[in-house]
Amino acid sequence: MTSPVLSPMPATPQIEPANFLNLLIVDDERSIREACREVAQSLGYTAYVADSAEHAYRLLETQPFDSVLLDLRLPGAGGLDALRRIKERRPEAVVIVVTGYGTVQSAVQAMKNGAYDYVTKPFSVDEQKMLLERVASHLRLKSENRLLREKVKSKQGFGGIVGRAPEMEKLYRIIAKAANSVHPVLILGESGTGKEMVARSIHYSGPFRDKAFIPVDCGSLVPTLIESELFGYVKGAFTGANQSKDGLMAIAEGGTIFLDEVGELPVDLQAKMLRAIQEKEIRPVGSTRRVAINVRILAATNRDLDQAVAQGEFRRDLYFRLNVLSLRIPALRERRQDIPLLIGYFLDRMTRTSGLEKMLSDDALKAMLAYDWPGNVRELENCLERTYAFTSGPLIHTTDLPREVANLPLPDPSSGSGNGNGHGKIIPIAELEKNTILNAITELNGDKLQAARLLGIGKTTLYRKLKDYAAHEFQS
Ligand SMILES: Nc1ncnc2c1ncn2[C@@H]1O[C@H](COP(=O)(O)OP(=O)(O)OP(=O)(O)O)[C@@H](O)[C@H]1O
Ligand SMILES: [Mg+2]
Repeated sequence: MTSPVLSPMPATPQIEPANFLNLLIVDDERSIREACREVAQSLGYTAYVADSAEHAYRLLETQPFDSVLLDLRLPGAGGLDALRRIKERRPEAVVIVVTGYGTVQSAVQAMKNGAYDYVTKPFSVDEQKMLLERVASHLRLKSENRLLREKVKSKQGFGGIVGRAPEMEKLYRIIAKAANSVHPVLILGESGTGKEMVARSIHYSGPFRDKAFIPVDCGSLVPTLIESELFGYVKGAFTGANQSKDGLMAIAEGGTIFLDEVGELPVDLQAKMLRAIQEKEIRPVGSTRRVAINVRILAATNRDLDQAVAQGEFRRDLYFRLNVLSLRIPALRERRQDIPLLIGYFLDRMTRTSGLEKMLSDDALKAMLAYDWPGNVRELENCLERTYAFTSGPLIHTTDLPREVANLPLPDPSSGSGNGNGHGKIIPIAELEKNTILNAITELNGDKLQAARLLGIGKTTLYRKLKDYAAHEFQS
């Protein structure tokens, strides 16, 4: 099946490029701002300018900066104050301070407060170029390392997401882009495909990863409670409201709110949510005052929202707001090559948590590879967990698997659970095992660790067997 596995929706507006070179230039002198902007852009930066600290703070709330060029002598709030606020809001940002001639003292203070470097005014275009090039390579390194760390953490992919199918690689690229944007993202996918995982990894790969990630299950909350849960309430708003309480939107301040099963949001709340997104403010239940909020919105659904809109069950305007960027996670049956990877990953995890090593028989593995997994990764994970718990020996047989996965006819007592080789050439199990192991290693380009994992055996077991094979080879 060649479905369009991950396509940004047709009406997708521009999103910020997956660029980590975003520079904010804060200077009250127009000529300097413009000159810096030109140099920065020529080096591939996306440059933003602010003429005051206040202006910079406003931009800071909406734009993903990685670097800031900050004049220390600003009118109003001083540059050092601005530096402190910037570092508070964006601890990882690389800040270069600009000082006037003869005020190096304040530059030293700035470095103590977390500035990366300083330049003194006046500076030449060349000086500035060199500086920004250095910042760029520093940022590039940081970004690469972060990606590497993410990858190592999960063995593949992003934020613990296992999968190497091309559709998944595409997904990781979109996640990386989405992470650096401030727009809402609508995550689509069948149940169990990993929508929440993807939402988390968008949040935790983004510039506000230090802030809260708050999931809200719009489907399981009682409709009358959702509003007060989301927006909070004030004392006396209803019986039992003895004191006011912040809602989840307020708790997520500065971070991300994840509206899971957003298709289940009752219609009156859809209107309120739309306003919250558009106006960036909410009104707690029972209050007459509006409160400003600053949260990133991610939403997920396994419903066909297009259809819900057509049927008048979901507001079109809210749909458009949420759907600025959308991504679709492929169903597991659309990326079968990831099934062994996931099996290996979950078996490995269960071995570590239980301290017991179990592996799948050939037939059990075959059955799992052939199954359609309508419940996707969640079903596969549950299947292995259950089977792991209920199998007493070290080997999981087909008969241990849930019936729908095993795809067994009614049990035939004579067939047992081995190779089921009634006739024809009978191959000794040891030989089958040897072939399986050697094939796996070849298939994985010699990666023995991965082979052991996918085969469901410990690496020491694998090494021991390889030694045995080698020893026999020498004898014969
Ligand atoms: N690619 C993956 N790699 C590793 N684990 C995964 C992957 N996808 C999903 N999982 C695991 O599968 C389970 C379901 O994932 P998640 O809750 O993110 O899916 P979902 O799409 O939100 O599902 P549902 O629609 O049932 O809420 C989780 O335990 C998650 O850790
Ligand atoms: Mg979910």
